[in-house]
Amino acid sequence: MSTQTPITLDFSYLLPDVTAEEIFDLQPYVTAAHELLQARNGPGNDFLGWLDPAAIMPATQLAEIRQTAARLRAEADVMVVVGIGGSYLGARAVIEALSVPGAPEVWYAGQTLSADYTAALLKALRGKRFCLNVVSKSGTTTEPAVAFRLLRALLQEQVGVEKARELIVATTDPASGALRGEVTREGYTSFPIPGNVGGRYSVLTAVGMLPIAFAGVDVEALLAGAVQCAHACTEPDLHRNPAYLYAAARNLLYRKGKTIELLSSFEPRLHYLAEWWKQLYGESEGKQSMGIFPASVEFTTDLHSMGQWIQQGRREIMETFLDITGGMPEVTIPKDAVNADGLNFLAGMPVAEVNRRAFEGTALAHHDGGVPNMTIALPELTAAPLGALLYFFEKACGVSAYLLGVNPFNQPGVENYKQNMFSLLNKPGYEEQATRVATAVREYQGKQVVKF
Ligand code: PA5
Repeated sequence: MSTQTPITLDFSYLLPDVTAEEIFDLQPYVTAAHELLQARNGPGNDFLGWLDPAAIMPATQLAEIRQTAARLRAEADVMVVVGIGGSYLGARAVIEALSVPGAPEVWYAGQTLSADYTAALLKALRGKRFCLNVVSKSGTTTEPAVAFRLLRALLQEQVGVEKARELIVATTDPASGALRGEVTREGYTSFPIPGNVGGRYSVLTAVGMLPIAFAGVDVEALLAGAVQCAHACTEPDLHRNPAYLYAAARNLLYRKGKTIELLSSFEPRLHYLAEWWKQLYGESEGKQSMGIFPASVEFTTDLHSMGQWIQQGRREIMETFLDITGGMPEVTIPKDAVNADGLNFLAGMPVAEVNRRAFEGTALAHHDGGVPNMTIALPELTAAPLGALLYFFEKACGVSAYLLGVNPFNQPGVENYKQNMFSLLNKPGYEEQATRVATAVREYQGKQVVKF
């Protein structure tokens, strides 16, 4: 197995804030973090299944996923993925990055409680041939459970109860939970979410792979890219492990006061990859009053909105560019006889080249404005390099969080809003808290409102 990855890291624009020597000086800490991961004895060690992508997605299961995706594609024009957080972001990241016009459509539900979004979705699905992939490890998450009720009812109304059963696939805990109970009762096709893989590390399990396969993406290549990257990222040595090098550099920048990391790209297709990355790093590191705040921007679009702040606002940000160096379609700028916009100097130039010069100019400008930046480059936006990138970020994240001294695999803070929401909704079992939460809300609500 090759230990090469398609990933290139460029740290040049970290200078002078961070030198290569300083990064390599972190080796003992990185080695310690690596040992916690590899020996599986660090905090959260019950959730390390993702370390071995081939083990969490065995070939037999991948074949079943492909068969199910093909069956559903024959019967439905749209798959609606019903899930939230780690139960949908990975699939959406890959599908939006790789699917081509005319590919089977994947829509999303259960990632919001917006009545407006839900009503529009139900309206758009009426009369459409659709299938559902409900994804929830616990089976009790409010947002997808609410959406699933509504969508299942619509599907049953359109095709009948029996046929609806065939068009619903559940991805959930293999043995327990509310959704597993429904699978057993209703006889839905189902795929397991391994117990040792948390939501935000689950893109390469059936959670991501079924919708990704439905969308026509080459899931074998995606997995092969991840497996290859896993082999390339096993060494503790910072000279030989790109994921650890990235983790060490951002950790060093954090120690130097750069508390916000911008993931920036020049490709709109990477929008949801950045959303996935934000969840991965935000939930893994943001705890115990620590952690880099992960943010994202899309250029050149956001250079005309956020660009000013990045260039001259508070100097507490670092930036990581995601660069796709090749494989872009040929679109050439035409010559214009009038040349009113003065752009004839660009005539005959591919748009991709203009975008590249914009990237080069931006990286230099941000560096000069006090934003140390690095670049993670892929040769093209195809399945295998993207699979490698997903694994790269996961491995870097585990080590990053251990370098920070926090458990990368829990998310205790996510419970707080749920406790309050359930209390305010009078969920059975929340009687004791209900009065306290309602009183606390009343204490603040309306106290400083100015109505114009
Ligand atoms: O990363 C996580 O664990 C979360 O984002 C979960 O995936 C999310 O809350 C959905 O949970 P569940 O799959 O249990 O519905």
